[in-house]
Amino acid sequence: MEFDRIECGDNIDVLSKIDSDTFDITITSPPYRNAIDYSMHAKHGNKGENYRGKLSISVSDYIDNMAKIFKEVHRVTKSGGYCCIVIGNEINKGTLEPLPALLVSRLYEQGWALHEEIVWHKVTGGANRAGSFVQRPYPSYFRANIMHEVILVMRKGENRLQKIEYAFSNINQDVMWKEIANSVWHIAPVPPGFLDHPCPYPEEIPYRLLNLYSNEGSTVLDPFNGAGQTTKVARYLGRKFYGIDIQKTYAEYAKTRLNEEPHIRDESIMLEFERIEGSIPKWKKIPTKKINR
Ligand SMILES: C[S@@+](CC[C@H](N)C(=O)[O-])C[C@H]1O[C@@H](n2cnc3c(N)ncnc32)[C@H](O)[C@@H]1O
Repeated sequence: MEFDRIECGDNIDVLSKIDSDTFDITITSPPYRNAIDYSMHAKHGNKGENYRGKLSISVSDYIDNMAKIFKEVHRVTKSGGYCCIVIGNEINKGTLEPLPALLVSRLYEQGWALHEEIVWHKVTGGANRAGSFVQRPYPSYFRANIMHEVILVMRKGENRLQKIEYAFSNINQDVMWKEIANSVWHIAPVPPGFLDHPCPYPEEIPYRLLNLYSNEGSTVLDPFNGAGQTTKVARYLGRKFYGIDIQKTYAEYAKTRLNEEPHIRDESIMLEFERIEGSIPKWKKIPTKKINR
């Protein structure tokens, strides 16, 4: 098996040619069900029109399709390996479609264990829905702004505890113990237009997950590789990577990004609780990297 590659193709086809028990970890985000038409975006770019909200696959067909793909991911994952899936509820005519809940229950039936569930709080961005409630603040008019997705950390088989190297060689310990150690992570999204892809996740997500669940030399898969956030960070951290995307434009783009400097932001945001009685918690920005005290 040749690693350190980004392939263009349908992930099921590409994975079907890969031996079982090949990868230590998958980090990925599946395509949105109906929010984005990737082929339109890949053809016309960020400024092109008509790539949002155009697809009409039903929720059950979408989940069936994802279940097939993650069954194949299960086969190519080593025993004790992980599959981290970043996914959020979608909104359809004002009603939520519970994609993470539907997906996790199918994967659970397939034999994946739910190792961890982390809420990704987007801090500065999300779907703004509370606007009409501001105009009409009556009960029943309220719709919450959606500020989060979840990171489902699925596991194949029993947990394989290994003492090979320390996680995070260069992180501020406050970020580790007051933010990353919790089941809610506060990470701002990639600003719109920053990358030539409609929905990359921030590099902090694969950076944290790779540190927490893999070691140098581990084998890393992203079957929905997009702009290549997983493959770029995996390479930076000395892991062996393998990315797949169905759009040639994205597969080629992800290759060009492999040698770019990482965009792990210099500051992290943290909720601080002061010990003074009666004081309210406040948000604080602190350096992400290790500081010499
Ligand atoms: C949500 S995006 C992934 C973004 C990626 N995590 C990043 O940070 O750039 C989903 C990607 O899956 C790709 N895709 C959709 N269906 C696919 C399939 N059957 N096989 C491979 N890639 C697929 C789309 O082209 C899109 O780039």
